[in-house]
Amino acid sequence: MNVLLTGGMGYIGSHTAVVLLQSGHRLVLYDNLSNSTYKVVEKLTQITGLHTPFINGDVRNTQLLTEALATHHIDAVIHFAGLKAVGESVEKPVDYYANNVQGAISLLEAMQSVDIKTLVFSSSATVYGEPQYLPLDENHPTRAINPYGRCKLHIEEMLGDVAESAPDWRIACLRYFNPVGAHESGLIGENPDGVPNNLMPYIAQVAAGKRAELSVFGADYPTADGTGVRDYIHVMDLAEGHAATLRFLSQSPGLHAINLGTGQGYSVLEMVRAFEKASGCHVPYRIVARRAGDVSAVYANPHKASECLSWRALRSLDDMCASTWRFQRSERSGMTL
Ligand code: NAD
Ligand code: UFG
Repeated sequence: MNVLLTGGMGYIGSHTAVVLLQSGHRLVLYDNLSNSTYKVVEKLTQITGLHTPFINGDVRNTQLLTEALATHHIDAVIHFAGLKAVGESVEKPVDYYANNVQGAISLLEAMQSVDIKTLVFSSSATVYGEPQYLPLDENHPTRAINPYGRCKLHIEEMLGDVAESAPDWRIACLRYFNPVGAHESGLIGENPDGVPNNLMPYIAQVAAGKRAELSVFGADYPTADGTGVRDYIHVMDLAEGHAATLRFLSQSPGLHAINLGTGQGYSVLEMVRAFEKASGCHVPYRIVARRAGDVSAVYANPHKASECLSWRALRSLDDMCASTWRFQRSERSGMTL
C-alpha cells in the first residue's frame, strides 16, 4: 500500500514508519517539524535501508496535502500530526483546536478531493475521562476533561459523521494508552524538548543524571502502593498495531474505535523499580502533591483489538525500560536525533 503518515517524523509516527516499511508498504512522511527534526529521515534509512520521501508541510495546508496525496498515489493515511501536551492545551486551547481540529478538517478535505477513503486516526485513552469502571472497553462513556482530550473527541465525532456519509469510508480511531520505549536500535525514541511532561522520559533523565530526582505526583490514590496506575505500552507494539489496523480496514468498511493497550496497569513506583533494574541506575524520587487532572488508575480492555486486528501487545515492561535506556544513552553520546 502507499501510505501517507501525517506527523510521521514524531515519536509514534517514526516507529510506525519502521514497521510499515519493513512490511513492504511505501510511505510518504508529511510533517511540519514543529516537534521533530529532519534527522529522523536519516535514522529511518539507517534502520530499514530504505529511503522514505519526506514533505515539510503543515496539515492545514490543504493544497500541499492534496498534491502530496495525488502525486504519491496514496491509498491510506495515518494521521499522527497534532499537539499533545495536556497541560499546554489548558493554557492554549485555541492553539490546540486550531492545530488539531482544523488539521483534521483540512486532511479530510484533501482526502475527499482525491477520493481517498481509508484513514487511521491517533486518538487517546484521554477520551474516556475519569473511569467509571476498569478495565476500559470501547463502550465506556467518553467524557474528556481537558482541551486536548476534547479535540480528540471532536475529531472522533467528526469522523463518525464522515463514515456515515458514504459506505466506502474505512476509518479507525485508535485509542492509545501510554506509549513508552524505543526502537531496539536506540536510534529513534521519545525526545521531549525541555522538562518532560510524561513519566518514562522523566525517569530516564533522572537515571542518566540529567535531573536530580523524580517528583511522584501523589501517593494517596486508592491503588496498591498509593501511586497512579497506567497501561504502559511499548511503542513498537503500538506501531505493529497500526500495520494490523491497515490490514483490518482493507476488509472492514465503516468507523471503528479500538483501544491499543496491554490490559496491564503499573504504578509509578513499579515503573521506577523496573527502570532501576533495567538500567542498573538509582532513580531518586520524592512524593509530592497530586497533579491536577490526574486520575488514580487507567488501563485498557484490549479484547476488541485482539478480535478485530488479531493483534496484542507482546513486549514486557523490561523491554520498555531497556529500550528507553538504550535510547537515552545513545542520545547522550550524540548518536541520535
Ligand atoms: P509527536 O509530537 O512526537 O509527533 C507528532 C508530530 O506531528 C510531530 O513530528 C510534529 O512535528 C507533527 N505536527 C504537529 N502539528 C502538525 C501540523 N499542523 N502539521 C504537520 N505536522 C504536525 O507526538 P506522538 O507522541 O508521536 O503522538 C502522535 C499522535 O498520537 C498525536 O496525535 C498524539 O495526540 C497521539 N497520542 C499520543 C500519546 C502519547 O503519549 N505519546 C498518547 C495518546 C495519543
Ligand atoms: N507522573 C509522576 N511524575 C512525573 C510524571 C508523571 O508521578 O513527573 C505520574 C502521573 O501522575 C501518572 C503517571 O505518572 O500517574 C503517568 O503520567 P504521564 O504524564 O506519563 O501520562 P498520563 O497518563 O497522564 O497521560 C499520557 C499522555 C496523554 C495520553 C494519555 C493516554 O500524556 O497525552 O497518556 O492514556 F493521552
